[in-house]
Amino acid sequence: MRVLILGCGIRGRVYASYARTRPDLFEIAGIADPAAPEADWKDWREALEAETGAEGAIIALPDAYHLAAAQAALAKGLHILLEKPLGCSWDECLQLKAAQRQAGRLVMPGFVLRYSKLYKTLDEVLAEGKIGEITDIRHTVALGCGKAAHAFCRGNWAREEDGSTALVQKCTHDFDLIARWAAPRRMLYVSSSGALAEWKRENKPANSANRCIDCPDDVRQSCPFDAVRLYIKEKDLRYHFPDCSDEAMLKVVRETQYGECVYLGRNNSVNHQRVLMEFEGALTVTLELQGLSLHRGRTTHFYGTRGEIEAKDDSITLETFMGEREVISLPGLSGNGCTGHDGGDAGIMDEFLEWARKGSQEDFERILADAFESHRIAFLAEERRRCHV
Ligand SMILES: NC(=O)c1ccc[n+]([C@@H]2O[C@H](COP(=O)([O-])OP(=O)(O)OC[C@H]3O[C@@H](n4cnc5c(N)ncnc54)[C@H](O)[C@@H]3O)[C@@H](O)[C@H]2O)c1
Repeated sequence: MRVLILGCGIRGRVYASYARTRPDLFEIAGIADPAAPEADWKDWREALEAETGAEGAIIALPDAYHLAAAQAALAKGLHILLEKPLGCSWDECLQLKAAQRQAGRLVMPGFVLRYSKLYKTLDEVLAEGKIGEITDIRHTVALGCGKAAHAFCRGNWAREEDGSTALVQKCTHDFDLIARWAAPRRMLYVSSSGALAEWKRENKPANSANRCIDCPDDVRQSCPFDAVRLYIKEKDLRYHFPDCSDEAMLKVVRETQYGECVYLGRNNSVNHQRVLMEFEGALTVTLELQGLSLHRGRTTHFYGTRGEIEAKDDSITLETFMGEREVISLPGLSGNGCTGHDGGDAGIMDEFLEWARKGSQEDFERILADAFESHRIAFLAEERRRCHV
């Protein structure tokens, strides 16, 4: 399948790399991105206007462009893999649904976690039914404070009005998993609280500069969010940039928003949020999003009528009330999404190409409706978070 890459940042590059591993299945018809050196066009609109012979498009643009790009690609008759979130509001999701119906093409949601080794194995363990009926799920998404500062204070999702909120951007993945674990039970009730606790102007240390590299040494040494440490001394966040060399990172810290003090007060995304849900059949679920956390990763704990299961990083532990204990180790998993989402990135590409080839209009509508359940929960939760007494 010949496919356009619209937006070639971190996600776009990941999908583009599939052309190297499966050249028999996937060919890049062109790349649109104003910042990518390998791009054929600067803007996604130009790519869709060009004669490329493309049959599909991967939309890995900033959230705010998702709907417009999806509508244009569908109108051109392309199958699309659309990064999450599928829309920045419920109304945008409904507009996407209308465009999909009219075009009769596939909209594959970018839910890579569905295809990751940990969650695929967890599905198999849950299907055995050893813990009986699931009555309660506790799911924690810990971002790690450096990554949270990168994305939700300095980066793309610093301001809710510029795209989507932290919960919608990060956790539509998680609501998708939760909706699948709960199925066929549907959510009946949701409430949510969240707040910005730390990255606020009033917390700016005395004598601190606006750019970390200009900050006095003693202030920098006591700041866990120091950009010089996060991007130059440490290497964990470098994968966000096309050029990860020391010189490039120095330029990032000197010249871009990623070198700015986290306490400038331009951001308004939450640091932490909790969502409480009730599903049909007496199932309760709590999702916790933690930006101010030491570690990065997802942990899920299931309580059932006959036992418990915990899925974390690279292992799944099952214990029943009758004394059975089983630990499934999946060595080599990162648990934090850094290494191809532990098989999810390749898995979703396989699935996208297969459904584009074999799917009917009925399949395409079902695939999108399935993906919307996560967005319905996320947007309702956000509505409740903002509804203060
Ligand atoms: N599925 C997942 O696990 C996952 C993970 C991270 C991000 N995402 C989503 O993927 C999308 C991309 O995120 P990212 O982390 O790759 O961000 P990114 O900033 O690295 O990439 C976005 C790219 O779009 C380009 N761009 C901006 N305007 C453009 C235009 N008019 N035309 C063409 N290209 C344009 C930018 O230059 C940038 O390279 C976001 O919607 C994000 O929410 C999904």
